[in-house]
Amino acid sequence: GITRNFSSSTSLNAIKTVTVVGGGLMGSGIAQVAAQAGQNVTIIDVNAELLEKAQKSIQNNLTRVGKKLYKGDAAKVDNFVKESFDRVRVSTKLEDGADVDLVVEAIVEKLDVKQELFNKLDQIAPPHTILATNTSSISVNEIGAGIKRKDRYGGLHFFNPVPVMRLLEVVKGDETSEETHKAMMEWGQSVGKTCITCKDTPGFVVNRLLGPYTAEALRMLERGDATKEDIDIGMKLGAGYPMGPFELADYTGNDTNMFALGVMYQKTKNPVFAPIKLLQKMVDEGKLGIKSGEGFYKYS
Ligand code: CAA
Ligand code: NAD
Repeated sequence: GITRNFSSSTSLNAIKTVTVVGGGLMGSGIAQVAAQAGQNVTIIDVNAELLEKAQKSIQNNLTRVGKKLYKGDAAKVDNFVKESFDRVRVSTKLEDGADVDLVVEAIVEKLDVKQELFNKLDQIAPPHTILATNTSSISVNEIGAGIKRKDRYGGLHFFNPVPVMRLLEVVKGDETSEETHKAMMEWGQSVGKTCITCKDTPGFVVNRLLGPYTAEALRMLERGDATKEDIDIGMKLGAGYPMGPFELADYTGNDTNMFALGVMYQKTKNPVFAPIKLLQKMVDEGKLGIKSGEGFYKYS
């Protein structure tokens, strides 16, 4: 089942209450998997409209999950959706979400905005609260540079779509304690994810490898080696990927990809991450992918 019990080795300070800051694409998914697993979760966002959108998307996605779990049994599906949804609270005030075991940050991918949030959380959350960032490309250590509880801080990197992707990267900062790492791993398992441990290296594990793959696909297209359709078919049928590189780029967003490649280039100087004219052009033209209605493909 989706609800998992803690194993007998569970530490005494296991995470039971969670706040997710940022109720966008990732934050709403993270809140959903916590609620599905029986945890009370608060979503904080600066934008009240986005909180409403998050609640709607959680309800829709819970229904998808419920239908899969309780095939055909409408009463059970309704009950699952209602019980899970009732565990989700929302607020625009950070203070309403501070008194919990774990705060997962999933706000905009901007270093200064994230630093400001963590500095505030460090001041208002009780001492035992673990603080974690879902950043995909910024250094976990840099985001937490201004906080005092560096031992109770790290990265929890989820994948889109959160309710479906089974992986969680648990990122150790320079000062993350073993106890905090263990609590984060156990929490990841409790929300149904398989956890891997990463160091705070650019792109962690998955994005560090997806970066060169995406970049070379773009260069293939620039060189005219093959069409985007044929490259996508190639990787789906020849390598077993669920989406081809251009479908995935549209799914993740070309702006997001360009930003992540930029950070990895800046940090590693590895030329595989060097700027790509075609990607810049797509972003300049507003062809960001599914979210803007057009990327490499058109979406109606
Ligand atoms: N919430 C809940 N369930 C969802 C969902 C969502 N948001 N999206 C899809 N699903 C479910 C569907 O209900 C469906 O369930 P069933 O199999 O029971 O019917 C299942 O997932 C498959 O969905 P679809 O049939 O609609 O479509 P699909 O088979 O093409 O799968 C996909 C969609 C799961 C997105 C798949 O194409 C895929 O895995 N793509 C690759 C995604 C990927 O690589 N993500 C990582 C990007 S990198 C990242 O996120 C990190 C970063 O830092 C940027
Ligand atoms: P998004 O734009 O969908 O959501 C961000 C949300 O944060 C918005 O609702 C916004 O109103 C809110 N917000 C902004 N500043 C805030 C603040 N100071 N306090 C509270 N709320 C604030 O973005 P997303 O795609 O969900 O990404 C969020 C984070 O997750 C980013 O760090 C991103 O790098 C990371 N991430 C994204 C993906 C992906 O595929 N999109 C995958 C893994 C990780």
